[in-house]
Amino acid sequence: MRFDHENTKRKYPLAIVILAAGMGTRMKSNLPKVMHPLAGKPMINWLIDTAEGLNPEKILVVVGPDMPELEATIAPHQPVIQQVRNGTGGALQCAMPFLDGFKGNVLVLLGDTPLLSQDTLQHLIDVRNVDAMTGVSVLGATMENPTGYGRLIEKSDGTLRHIVEEKDASDKERAVKKVNTGAFCIDALRLPKWLGKIDNNNAQGEFYITDLPYIAAEDGFYTRIAMAHNTAETQGCNTRSDLAALEGELQKKLRKNIMDQGVQMLDPSTVYVHYDTVVEPGTLIEPNVFLGPDVTIKAGCHIKAFCHFEGVVIHENVTIGPFARLRPGTVLEENVRIGNFVEVKKSKIGARSKVNHLGYVGDCDMGEDVNFSAGAITVNYDGFEKHQTVIGNNVIVGSNSNLIAPISIDDGAFIAAGSTITEDVPTDALSISRDSGKIREGWAAEYRRRKAAIAKKITNKKK
Ligand code: UD1
Ligand code: CA
Repeated sequence: MRFDHENTKRKYPLAIVILAAGMGTRMKSNLPKVMHPLAGKPMINWLIDTAEGLNPEKILVVVGPDMPELEATIAPHQPVIQQVRNGTGGALQCAMPFLDGFKGNVLVLLGDTPLLSQDTLQHLIDVRNVDAMTGVSVLGATMENPTGYGRLIEKSDGTLRHIVEEKDASDKERAVKKVNTGAFCIDALRLPKWLGKIDNNNAQGEFYITDLPYIAAEDGFYTRIAMAHNTAETQGCNTRSDLAALEGELQKKLRKNIMDQGVQMLDPSTVYVHYDTVVEPGTLIEPNVFLGPDVTIKAGCHIKAFCHFEGVVIHENVTIGPFARLRPGTVLEENVRIGNFVEVKKSKIGARSKVNHLGYVGDCDMGEDVNFSAGAITVNYDGFEKHQTVIGNNVIVGSNSNLIAPISIDDGAFIAAGSTITEDVPTDALSISRDSGKIREGWAAEYRRRKAAIAKKITNKKK
């Protein structure tokens, strides 16, 4: 059956109920299923963010009695406690007191189906609004492998006869590839009556929300199927493998958004981003880069292969890597250069400064045009507390030097290679602390001769 949505779009008040009380036993996890993160944000929050975009009157989330962290993450929306997990129908029943007197549409979503888009949900609502006799709309999808999903059994006119759960299905019904994605839009006025008729005579002994279409039909109402155009977003999450599949889908979408902004990725599938990652146009990202939470990369940067960033702000035209690790609290100003095997933590590095090879910069405020040479490190931890290193502008920190914090190196100072510096260094001074070394003429030749003689003796003995 086809509908012309533009002609049929009627606006009714909307309430959204998200079912999320299940234990998620198939995940084999201590965390409630819907709390598992996708791109660093709990699954349930992806769905709530989308739900908010539909401007509903209210969003209710059905949770278990023992899920305080879930209640916290859905705030300020209303948690509804389902004391006994007796099925999706039972879960929706728990929300009914909060919908007393509500007229309009009730959109029911499953907390473990987090990638649904706003357009898809709007389509589901529009299909329910087609006519007054359509009491329910169900979001359907065609799945090549429908295992685990309820199957949509249609009437000859294309409306829905009923939904059969996999465990209750005959072989013929199991062969059906049109599935229930779990999202329903229901006439709020009739919902309490229909819900009251659900029983638990089925393979799992649970109250199934999927009985609603059948019950509505008995009352003389249609259930229409709204087909999802993008099957990938309708995938549910029951197992760790499902979670990984959802993560893959989401990463594809997030990376595309970033690339659409004018960012180049040489091998996108190897770049992992977070929900809050910001990358500005003209930046190039090489393969195998991990962008953790709270990362901003401004325009024109070059992120070379195998980098790992969390909690950083990288200003324009910075080059980093390969193999660099930037930890939380790091700010790199314009044109900074961070090379291979460098770690930076909780530090600001001023414009045009270079930390090119094998260094550690922690708890440091570094000025502009500094050269922090190979193998130099800030020694920021005394075993009990962290201490600050302050480096001025135009400083040269020689290779393999140790700056024992707290310490301050003023503008233009020069730290000689191999020095361990414990005292503040004034402007334009040299600080050097190393053995001047000894030369012993001919020592190496003599050493080699003695070693060769010993080796010869041992071989002769063996003979
Ligand atoms: C459900 C549907 C199935 C559909 C599939 C789509 C039913 C009976 N089956 O099956 O037709 O194809 O989703 O992914 O609805 N929940 C509660 N309280 C409960 C039980 C479940 O809040 O007592 C919540 C869970 O937290 C979860 C959601 O409902 O977020 C779905 O429950 P789940 O057990 O995963 O249902 P499926 O077997 O996947
Ligand atoms: Ca599920």
